[in-house]
Amino acid sequence: RLIILDFGSQYTQLIARRIRELHVFCEIHPFTHAPNLVLTDDIRGIILSGSPCSVREEGAPNPDLGHVLGRVPVLGVCYGAQLLAQQGGGEVLPATIREYGRARLAALDDASPLMHGLHTGSQVWMSHGDTIQTLSAGYAVIASTPEVAVAAFQVEGQETYGIQFHPEVTHSTEGKRLLQNFVVDICRCEQSWTPDHFVDSAVLALQHTIGPTDQVILGLSGGVDSSVAALLLHRAIGPRLHGIFVDNGLLRQDEFATVLKAYEGLGLNVTGVNAAPEFYAALAGLSDPEAKRKAIGRTFIEVFDREAQKVTGAAWLAQGTIYPDVIESVSVKGPAVTIKSHHNVGGLPEKMHLKVVEPLRMLFKDEVREVGAALGLPGEILNRHPFPGPGLGIRILGDITPEKVDLLQRADGVFINLLKEHGLYSQVWQAGAMLLPVQSVGVMGDERTYERVVALRAVTSIDGMTADWAHLPYEFLAEVSNKIINQVRGINRVVYDISSKPPATIEWE
Ligand code: XMP
Repeated sequence: RLIILDFGSQYTQLIARRIRELHVFCEIHPFTHAPNLVLTDDIRGIILSGSPCSVREEGAPNPDLGHVLGRVPVLGVCYGAQLLAQQGGGEVLPATIREYGRARLAALDDASPLMHGLHTGSQVWMSHGDTIQTLSAGYAVIASTPEVAVAAFQVEGQETYGIQFHPEVTHSTEGKRLLQNFVVDICRCEQSWTPDHFVDSAVLALQHTIGPTDQVILGLSGGVDSSVAALLLHRAIGPRLHGIFVDNGLLRQDEFATVLKAYEGLGLNVTGVNAAPEFYAALAGLSDPEAKRKAIGRTFIEVFDREAQKVTGAAWLAQGTIYPDVIESVSVKGPAVTIKSHHNVGGLPEKMHLKVVEPLRMLFKDEVREVGAALGLPGEILNRHPFPGPGLGIRILGDITPEKVDLLQRADGVFINLLKEHGLYSQVWQAGAMLLPVQSVGVMGDERTYERVVALRAVTSIDGMTADWAHLPYEFLAEVSNKIINQVRGINRVVYDISSKPPATIEWE
């Protein structure tokens, strides 16, 4: 495996994903782990990430790498490269011209294993305010651009490299080749990290961890992560996996029935619990978004716990946690701030006194989908948009009543079905309708109406952290609007949300 030491760059996860795409397993560790890193045989190489800091700043991350350099291949990217240069006695100074965006490799040393197969003129992506001015003796430049003399270097007699550009972004057109050179040729990592390999080893590990008579409980949501976790556990322990799928009354139109049927079709042992009235009772009169989230989370725990008690011999609670939730985030520029409380069901394992098993905790989202496909998860679940735990509860602005839920389910249903019919569903990251707490005047036939407004939201995104509104065709939006207003009695106006994130969020609450 490969270790990526994270110095806080926004691109660190992207480096890991690119390496996984090469079918090589890698892990991200905060740079603070560097001094304690023990070089076991299975660690084939180390990558040092970029950082929002400058190596010249007081207090910038500067872990001692002496015990790894020369013993295992190391690749410093951007800040990582500057750190290697500086620790080796070179000089890093503020760049005199801006070095952001596109650049082209003007000279490169094709004899260097890192640069092998890359071409002069190849586009690379730069993003740095400092530049490596001088290198110590024993450091050889292996690539330059017209502006950046030291675009890449190697420490002679060692497999230690630094590159100033970002090979992980797609704008660096031969970046993947460079990473492959490092990971496969220099580090000699095995390219065995495939979905099938993961399934085989995860199933064995689960069988090993979970006792032969232990029962395992898993909350299913119809989403990709919990469904893939269920299939994996089902393969490992069969009917000793007890899935619980709670209808909180805030799901999409027909979702509970459709998803439950899909689970049954997969042979999963799943109990569907209709708890809508309990959720509506807990939500009665609440309009504040955080209060609604808390009420939904609390009720979920109550319902789930009650159902779980019915399973005798339950020893484990399985969760569909994925790698981005696990990676210890490095905060080099002040503490991260929680904007919304997304972790709706935090506290569940503690309350239930169960051990936790998280079979997907090393996977990125795209890998979860690949594993799901390898396990035969049907496309309707595999390619489903993300949907928030509190569901329509945070898409009905203000207080929630069953009537409003019904109205929104029908409007949302029209939107989602038309997206699918027009082949647009898979082109957006997430889409849905919001029921606004205002009424507006309309005219239908000779009658004046005074009814509700829905806002349609569709966004493109890679990970939900940033998003742009989806530029859906006008004709399509016209059709959706028409159909909603004609078919959903109680709605007389449809608007389209054209805000990006940031500054807006994807959900309205
Ligand atoms: P925002 O609205 O913060 O949403 O831009 C980013 C992503 O997170 C989802 N989301 C939630 N998911 N519980 C969840 O499980 C929540 O309370 C919650 N709020 C937002 C949102 O749907 C989007 O995918």
